[in-house]
Amino acid sequence: MTHLVLVLVLVAAVRTGACPVMCTCSRHLAVRCTQQVPAEIFTNLTNLQELVIENSDLGDLSNVSVADLELQSMRLSQNRIVSLPELNVTNLRHLDLSGNLIETLGVEFRTLRSLEILNLSANFLTVIDSDSFSGLESLKCLDLSRNNLTRLDDALFEPLQALQYLNLSSNQLTILNERCFISLVKLQQLDVSFNRLVRVELGSLQLPSLARLLLAGNSRLGASKQPMLVGTGQRLQTVDASNIGLEQVPPALTHSIRTLRLVGNSIKTVRCGDLDSYPLLQLLDFDSNGLEVIEDDALGRLDSLTILYLTNNNMSEIPKSLSEKLKVLHLEHNQIQQVRTRDLQGLTSLEVLLLNDNKIRLIEAEAFNQLTSLVTLDISRNPIKILEAGCLSGSMALQVLRLSNIDVDSPPKEVSFPLSSTEHLITLDLSGSPGLARQLLVDTAALAASRQLQELDLSFTDLEFIRSDLLHFLPQLRIFHIDGNRINCTQLEWLAAWMRRQDEPEYKRVTCVSPPELWGTLLIDLQPVEATPNRPTTTQTPTTQMEDYIDIESFLRENKSEIFPITNSTRGEMSMFSAGAQERLHPGLVLAAAMLGTALVLVLLGVRFAKRRRDALRLRQEDLEVSSLPGVTELW
Ligand SMILES: *[C@@H]1O[C@H](CO)[C@@H](O)[C@H](O)[C@H]1NC(C)=O
Ligand SMILES: *[C@@H]1O[C@H](CO)[C@@H](O)[C@H](O)[C@H]1NC(C)=O
Ligand SMILES: *[C@@H]1O[C@H](CO)[C@@H](O)[C@H](O)[C@H]1NC(C)=O
Ligand SMILES: *[C@@H]1O[C@H](CO)[C@@H](O)[C@H](O)[C@H]1NC(C)=O
Ligand SMILES: *[C@@H]1O[C@H](CO)[C@@H](O)[C@H](O)[C@H]1NC(C)=O
Ligand SMILES: *[C@@H]1O[C@H](CO)[C@@H](O)[C@H](O)[C@H]1NC(C)=O
Ligand SMILES: *[C@@H]1O[C@H](CO)[C@@H](O)[C@H](O)[C@H]1NC(C)=O
Ligand SMILES: *[C@@H]1O[C@H](CO)[C@@H](O)[C@H](O)[C@H]1NC(C)=O
Ligand SMILES: *[C@@H]1O[C@H](CO)[C@@H](O)[C@H](O)[C@H]1NC(C)=O
Ligand SMILES: *[C@@H]1O[C@H](CO)[C@@H](O)[C@H](O)[C@H]1NC(C)=O
Repeated sequence: MTHLVLVLVLVAAVRTGACPVMCTCSRHLAVRCTQQVPAEIFTNLTNLQELVIENSDLGDLSNVSVADLELQSMRLSQNRIVSLPELNVTNLRHLDLSGNLIETLGVEFRTLRSLEILNLSANFLTVIDSDSFSGLESLKCLDLSRNNLTRLDDALFEPLQALQYLNLSSNQLTILNERCFISLVKLQQLDVSFNRLVRVELGSLQLPSLARLLLAGNSRLGASKQPMLVGTGQRLQTVDASNIGLEQVPPALTHSIRTLRLVGNSIKTVRCGDLDSYPLLQLLDFDSNGLEVIEDDALGRLDSLTILYLTNNNMSEIPKSLSEKLKVLHLEHNQIQQVRTRDLQGLTSLEVLLLNDNKIRLIEAEAFNQLTSLVTLDISRNPIKILEAGCLSGSMALQVLRLSNIDVDSPPKEVSFPLSSTEHLITLDLSGSPGLARQLLVDTAALAASRQLQELDLSFTDLEFIRSDLLHFLPQLRIFHIDGNRINCTQLEWLAAWMRRQDEPEYKRVTCVSPPELWGTLLIDLQPVEATPNRPTTTQTPTTQMEDYIDIESFLRENKSEIFPITNSTRGEMSMFSAGAQERLHPGLVLAAAMLGTALVLVLLGVRFAKRRRDALRLRQEDLEVSSLPGVTELW
């Protein structure tokens, strides 16, 4: 498809009234305005390749005739069009009529032999005459979603031999009958979601190329007595049967399905054998079903299962015999009470485990030890009382750890943070967990290893002091949540200076509670005390305030080999703190260097951080399903 080289946008000044009528300077004409466009605009489109008129008032175009041999794309969405013009544009490939007021179709499209995309979404169509689409022999993509179609004529789609994508979502269809789709041998994606289907007739979906079938939101369909997915072709990979009132897993006659979504049904039990007709399944989504039991071996035969959603159910245990290939397991918002060592046995590929918002009281000491690939773990908002030191120690690759609102029994001071190998940690959320926050801040070894940490959440953790060497340990920190604490701002100018360099609106809300003269001051506004050469600087203060904290320089000197594997890069970073010559270095300079380093690294890593977040997001949306399908935009 020729790409748009230049679109001239003529935006009419609202004050002056009508939109401009003609353009003689470009092969592309675009008019976007809220005014009435005179119908004459269609009478001379000589040499134009693309016409865009949006958000105007075109109304009745039945007396207009558009005849132009060059026009390839006409986008006329949102124009209050009631009836279509006569179209005689044999080269037209893209016609967008979405968001208009069209109620009926005649034979306006019969000359559009090159048309590939026809968008009639969001109009007022109730019935379409059986010959309306005749002549559309090149059509690949037809969007009829968001109309009021109640039935489909048997012969309606017969001319559309090339159709690959058909969207009938959000109409009023009650029955899909056998004859209607029979000629669509190239159809890959069929969306009939959000209709009122009560029945999918036997054979109606026997489409040899169908890869993606969306049935979601037909709430009465699950009650129909027929098996739902009968007769589907051998290419079917993705089925969305969400919110259709199912009470058990529907059997499928084809074994090719890789993605199965059953969100919002009423499947309380998954029995052994229920999933036997899905041997290639990679993604299974049981979100919001009231699911209570998954029988022991029910998922055991799904050797390819990679992503499993069990969010928002009533599960009291972690399901057993999960595939070794499982990468993503969502168990958040259930009733799980404990995590035992055997529950997660063998899940060596697991990268994402979400157990937040359950009833977990007990996590056995070795429970996570086998999860050697784990990247993201969330066990927030569980009534856990004890998180033993080292109980997360198997998770060497952990990048995102969320332990929010966990009220562990106040640990004795010497107890170290539950995760010791924090080398890869990028995000750590301890909000609302005062005990864990305290554990982290006294665990110098864990802090010192957290050199990749970019986001730290210590909000609502009863924090008063913030150890002054924190930023030495966390050179890549970009986001630091400390709101909801009663901060003692004595000698926190270093933190204020750091905050001012970040770009986080939240910092603007953190206020000081003490000492009295700083009460109510925004932390970020604290100004550095004027530097005089002999004045004690912040790096020297901790010894008096915080006996718990160790002097970082000597710590790193003595204990570096334990903390840092000596590689070329870490050695480079460490030189800032070790080496005899620096003994005499003014601590202020060290701090300044560290700050400068932080700022530089931040700039460099901002990009990487953004990318990781995108990756993580992508993993959540896990479009396994489209992997081998053309997207709508790739169809031509
Ligand atoms: C249409 O416009 C072109 C140039 O914009 C002009 O040369 C031609 O004469 C016009 N044709 C008619 C029928 O008005
Ligand atoms: C269309 O043309 C007919 C006859 O020329 C005329 O009676 C009718 O009013 C026109 N309709 C519109 C919307 O211009
Ligand atoms: C469409 O245009 C062609 C040539 O421009 C002409 O021969 C044909 O009769 C027109 N068809 C209709 C239905 O107007
Ligand atoms: C049709 O138009 C609607 C609204 O403009 C748009 O959201 C939709 O993506 C379009 N459909 C296709 C298949 O391009
Ligand atoms: C669709 O049809 C129903 C009744 O059949 C009607 O109440 C509703 O307003 C129609 N909606 C649209 C968008 O035409
Ligand atoms: C079908 O259209 C609806 C509404 O316009 C849209 O939300 C949906 O994503 C479309 N389906 C596909 C498969 O593109
Ligand atoms: C979960 O189980 C409890 C009691 O066992 C019940 O009250 C609740 O309705 C169930 N929730 C769902 C979504 O089925
Ligand atoms: C705040 O910290 C300073 C320095 O450690 C200390 O002297 C002071 O008592 C603290 N104020 C409060 C209210 O805790
Ligand atoms: C070094 O580590 C040892 C044992 O882990 C500890 O006793 C010692 O205090 C550490 N040194 C410093 C300076 O913290
Ligand atoms: C350290 O750097 C040298 C050369 O710059 C390289 O040969 C060596 O493999 C590096 N070692 C490590 C552990 O990266």
